[in-house]
Amino acid sequence: MEFIPPFPPRPKTALPVFKLLRLGMQNFLSIWEDKAFEYQTMSMQLLARQVVICNSPDTVRHAFVTHAENYERKSPQMRNALSPLLGDGLFISDGETWKQRRQMVVPVLHTTRLGQFAPVMVQTACELGDKWATLPDGSTIDVLKAMAQLTAEIIGRTVFGQTLGSDRTQEVVDAFSEYQKYVDQRDLTSLLGLPSWIPRRHGAKIGQSAARIHAILDGIIADLRRTEDDGSVIRMLMKDGTLDATALRNEAAVIFMAGHETTANCLAWAWYLLSQAPDVEARLHEELDTVLGARAPTLADVPRLVYTRAVIEETLRLYPPVPLLAREATHDDTIRSRKVKAGALVIVVPWLLHRHRLYWRKPDHFMPERFLPGSPDAPDKYTYVPFSIGPRICAGLSFGLTEAIICLATLARTARLRLAPGAVVEPVCRLTLRPGDSLPMTVWARTPRPGAQVAPPAAPAQGCPVHHG
Ligand code: HEM
Repeated sequence: MEFIPPFPPRPKTALPVFKLLRLGMQNFLSIWEDKAFEYQTMSMQLLARQVVICNSPDTVRHAFVTHAENYERKSPQMRNALSPLLGDGLFISDGETWKQRRQMVVPVLHTTRLGQFAPVMVQTACELGDKWATLPDGSTIDVLKAMAQLTAEIIGRTVFGQTLGSDRTQEVVDAFSEYQKYVDQRDLTSLLGLPSWIPRRHGAKIGQSAARIHAILDGIIADLRRTEDDGSVIRMLMKDGTLDATALRNEAAVIFMAGHETTANCLAWAWYLLSQAPDVEARLHEELDTVLGARAPTLADVPRLVYTRAVIEETLRLYPPVPLLAREATHDDTIRSRKVKAGALVIVVPWLLHRHRLYWRKPDHFMPERFLPGSPDAPDKYTYVPFSIGPRICAGLSFGLTEAIICLATLARTARLRLAPGAVVEPVCRLTLRPGDSLPMTVWARTPRPGAQVAPPAAPAQGCPVHHG
């Protein structure tokens, strides 16, 4: 059975600039006219700022790989939104600082350290699975929140060490959520190219919220200095000795921020998609039963969980947690035949590229098979960029992908989730792409308990209110 999951309506013609900006503030996914899924480059002038969109493999390669130095700088909106929290942290820095931090952070998150991280991922996912197993069949949970707590706990334990404890992890998560409430990545004044002295919305609250997070992180790091080495990410960075206290805290904040909501959103979308696609869910269960049987996964199982991986990769294609990658051009350049002026915003939009009609067969369909080894529909590496590409590619790629596979495998082995009756799922982009503000689903034991009801079959929600093209 074929399934086309929801996406916002696509206007037939380009929107006038002010309507586009107004709509973009509410949901950046809804501003794209239908033809944007066919164009290979686009450009527009938003008052003082030129905007160029790279929407083909060659233009993505140009901006993010072959001419990456000219497009290394994050957009002013991103820097304005995050600098009170992250300071000179890797995520928003550029030039020498970025180079130096990148060289330090990449090795501590590297694939070779997965042997240390994976058991934490399995253990934390098993704890959630055990909690679900105590719930009566059909209990409703908010899956978006559950996945956010799961990935925050994993990142908390791996970054700060096993001794952090759930209460302090929750304190950090709450402080980050509060910060996000005040931040507006789509900061209109910067987008329009207006000067930085124009007051930003929520400026004071952002400062107070960042100070609260800094105090919490400083406390955790001070405690860690007094405890034994537990192989955590922060301990590894401390050992290097190059980073002072503020830099160390900034990198801790970067990893925590970049490393939990992205994976959480991916997992939440995966649960939703599985609940709507019975064939995919059945094939996933078949793989889990064959590879794992009655046990939880280990890192050694991950290469054999090929279909589970395909489900995650297809989820990241349809709903890339970071659906917009924006850069500020340092110098004048030409992309295809378009002149790019220094200061222009040059943007790669995974939301468009991943559903582009020239590069994907059935681009809006949920079809994990396209990611199976040997598939004729396998993507070009410049049209599938959920982790970005080039020198600024996600530093936690292996961590995030492995984590998503392990968490889905661990939980789907024993539980099925179904969309709660009446729940409306609509993709929205605030800081990241999410299925709305919550995702209510019901939990069912995969092996029915004696005398219990069985989970209703996976099936598309009736009368889905969101446009399907
Ligand atoms: C499914 C999960 C994830 C996705 C889809 C994802 C995606 C991305 C993307 C698209 C970027 C580039 C952003 C931009 O250019 O504006 C990025 C950067 C980054 N990510 Fe991830 N990420 C994920 C998980 C993680 C995890 C688990 C960690 C850490 C443990 C992490 C750490 C980072 C860091 C440090 C950067 C900044 C790299 C730099 O600027 O050089 N990410 N991520």
